[in-house]
Amino acid sequence: MRRRRAAVAALVVLATVGLGACSKKAPSVVDPHGPEAHRIAGTWWLMFGLAAAVYAVVGGFIVVALLRGRGTATGRASRISDNGFIWVGGLAVPLVILMVLAWATVDTTNHVRRPEKDPLKVEVVARQWWWAVSYPQYHFATANEIHVPVDRPIELGLDSDNVLHSFWVPQLGGKLDTIPGQHNVWRFKASRAGTYRGQCAEYCGLQHAHMSFLVVAEPSATFDTWALRRTNPPPAPTDQLQANGQLVFVSSPCAGCHTVRGTQAQGVIGPDLSDIGSRRTIGANTVPNTTGNLSGWVLNAQTIKPGNLMPPIDLSADQLHALVAYLQSLK
Ligand code: CUA
Repeated sequence: MRRRRAAVAALVVLATVGLGACSKKAPSVVDPHGPEAHRIAGTWWLMFGLAAAVYAVVGGFIVVALLRGRGTATGRASRISDNGFIWVGGLAVPLVILMVLAWATVDTTNHVRRPEKDPLKVEVVARQWWWAVSYPQYHFATANEIHVPVDRPIELGLDSDNVLHSFWVPQLGGKLDTIPGQHNVWRFKASRAGTYRGQCAEYCGLQHAHMSFLVVAEPSATFDTWALRRTNPPPAPTDQLQANGQLVFVSSPCAGCHTVRGTQAQGVIGPDLSDIGSRRTIGANTVPNTTGNLSGWVLNAQTIKPGNLMPPIDLSADQLHALVAYLQSLK
């Protein structure tokens, strides 16, 4: 009987630890790729270590209590009084643990907020449900894909023109809310080139789960090429198909909501499409930017991301073919 109880207790302990294991595929706080993210990962490990220690001690007491059972008729007096146990285990130890964690958290927060010299400024506005991105030092806008040079301090301004959202790139730093009427600043550096997935981390409506984005960290020469290319409008159509597509774009409802620099299309309700052909995904990282997905999105984005602001558009097969060819040429 006693052995079975001990086995059950051990199983419960193991199952709880097992549940905490996380998937390798998801971007993780404990896989940091920048100095700020490293600090945050350190704080995470400290919290995890302390929590694990508390868990082991409390679990150990439970196992001991199970094995001892209710004691014999003669009884065995504990060496620690009940009161002493409560003062130490219930007050002194938690107080010390909480003070250590409070210090670590405040110190980390101060550290990751410290401004650095010569930052690259990026402005991000959370929309429902996508991210408008602009580079004030270069005077251009894009969406849902933030390019940054490796090892350069980035100062990212965060705003919202609707509800609360939260900007979070687990491998590059902590999350920060976007709050209507309040400008927040998120500072980080990427120490390794790569594509990092970010996600809205504050429930914001129907498509909260599909409000993600990519941060593309690249060597500074690659970033300069990317940014300089965008300081000018995209190249004009190079063939008849693209020219037809441009005509469809500016004469259809597309132009009322989207901007393509250098054309009459200057809408500001949806994302700026001046470099849509170069983006890896569409619909705020909802699906890969392929010909099929882009065509489906243009015809009826509601089937891919229900509730988003883009209405279905009535186009003939030829018009759609030309429009998609034009959009893909915008790089
Ligand atoms: Cu935006 Cu959740």
